[in-house]
Amino acid sequence: MSKLRLRSVSKRYGATVALEYGDLDLEAGEVHVLMGANGSGKSTLSKIIAGSVRPDSGIIELDGKAISITNPQAAREFGVAIFYQELSLAAHRTVAENICLSQLPSTAGVFLDRQKMIEIAERRIAPFLDVVGDGFSVNTQVGQLRADQRQLVEIMKTFAQDADILIFDEPTSALDRAQVECFLNLLREQKAAGRCIVFISHRRDEIFDIGDRITIIRDGRTVSTKVLSETNIDEVLIAMVGEGEAVAEQQSQSLPQRTEIGEIKLVVEDITNDSLQEVGFQVSAGEILGLGGLHGHGQSAILRTIFGVLDLGTGQIFLDGAAKDLNSPRAAIRNGIAYISGDRRRDGIITDRSILENVVPVYALKKHLIAASPNTLGKKARMALELLQSKYESLAHSIGSMSGGNQQKVVVARWLMDAPDILLLDDPTKGIDMATKKELFNLIRELAAQGMAIILYSSEDAELLENADRILVLNNGKIVRELKGSERTRYNLYHAAYEAA
Ligand SMILES: Nc1ncnc2c1ncn2[C@@H]1O[C@H](COP(=O)(O)OP(=O)(O)OP(=O)(O)O)[C@@H](O)[C@H]1O
Ligand SMILES: [Mg+2]
Repeated sequence: MSKLRLRSVSKRYGATVALEYGDLDLEAGEVHVLMGANGSGKSTLSKIIAGSVRPDSGIIELDGKAISITNPQAAREFGVAIFYQELSLAAHRTVAENICLSQLPSTAGVFLDRQKMIEIAERRIAPFLDVVGDGFSVNTQVGQLRADQRQLVEIMKTFAQDADILIFDEPTSALDRAQVECFLNLLREQKAAGRCIVFISHRRDEIFDIGDRITIIRDGRTVSTKVLSETNIDEVLIAMVGEGEAVAEQQSQSLPQRTEIGEIKLVVEDITNDSLQEVGFQVSAGEILGLGGLHGHGQSAILRTIFGVLDLGTGQIFLDGAAKDLNSPRAAIRNGIAYISGDRRRDGIITDRSILENVVPVYALKKHLIAASPNTLGKKARMALELLQSKYESLAHSIGSMSGGNQQKVVVARWLMDAPDILLLDDPTKGIDMATKKELFNLIRELAAQGMAIILYSSEDAELLENADRILVLNNGKIVRELKGSERTRYNLYHAAYEAA
């Protein structure tokens, strides 16, 4: 018998159908992957099970009995714990307080038992001890943590609830490989203990590694459920985008050719600062230069230094042969540099502002626009968003009403409104679904063909290997290897990344 069953569950937001005919069967002891394009309804389905969104209609059964999950507290009583895609942490509270937030222990039922709380937190941190990184302890305020560390706290918080049904809505999007491995090990333990787990991710390797079954959701409808060992990535992608569309795509498959490399656009010389050691390289027009290695070894620091966020230290930067002083993002933008970050909470968006207000600021800054007609801006913004197939109702709506992946597309669109000369991509596809990722990289290749110089960091090795013409591997802030042509293999990449610095 299924542990949890959803039948024809639906949810609308105004004119938007977030979910209709949502069907799901969860068994004890399985990892059930939920997969679908951005905006297809995965988070909505998750939140319905977790009681934070009330469905408009449908039936939910727990152990064969119909139940009604009216709020998060009720869900917890039914044995459900959830990792929220946009996280649910209190920034001003400590790591320990956040881990224990839903069940703060008390002595005599009233007072907070700090000692017990610290013990519980430490037990949850223990499996991650080697991978939490610097500046992480039970007493650190969550607001001071990096994106990956915050994600780990949300994971620990979810496990701390000792729930029978665990829902993880994109828990690994900011984690590096070692952190993901720790997390997957815990999932395996939970699975062995008979828990039932819903796992949402856009990362192909993890899905096939940990998943038992997969349910694919398209435009708010659950279209099929398969045993993962009996299917493959092509079948999954076809189910995701629909058969008709997949066939059409194959027929029109005119992948942009690798382009001729043009003149040298950017030269970086001898940067040594807090995060980097003697980093030097050059990028030419038409080229996509990849940055590889373990997450956090200086890839992002290189991009942020070029963009004027981090201090240049001893080095020098030349654009089209001339030395430039890029001491702020403003200076970088005015010199034709664009920076797209996957950490949209930190660098990307203003949650309570409209979609339009989130797309246009860079364009306005670059064009020295003080006032421009919303109509003109709106038209350009819509064109950029359309290129990425973003799903939204109106530019005037708040960006917070978009699905996570669609928010990320806004961040990308903002830079496409006016073509830059140099494009810095800092793990840009975080949260973007597989079909759109493919589109996005076709677009990036086209931009290169038009003469843009592009530097790409991706936390997904497959993405890097497929898209970069040349890869610099970083280890401890140093470039340790350059992979060209046929050297660009997963083996070489891992080998260089793990080699002692
Ligand atoms: N609070 C809300 N108000 C209005 N519309 C919403 C709200 N939450 C979700 N939606 C809409 O419902 C649809 C489904 O969103 P959902 O967040 O479930 O997608 P998702 O599959 O999780 O996507 P992603 O992969 O991008 O996270 C989207 O079109 C989204 O814009
Ligand atoms: Mg989502």
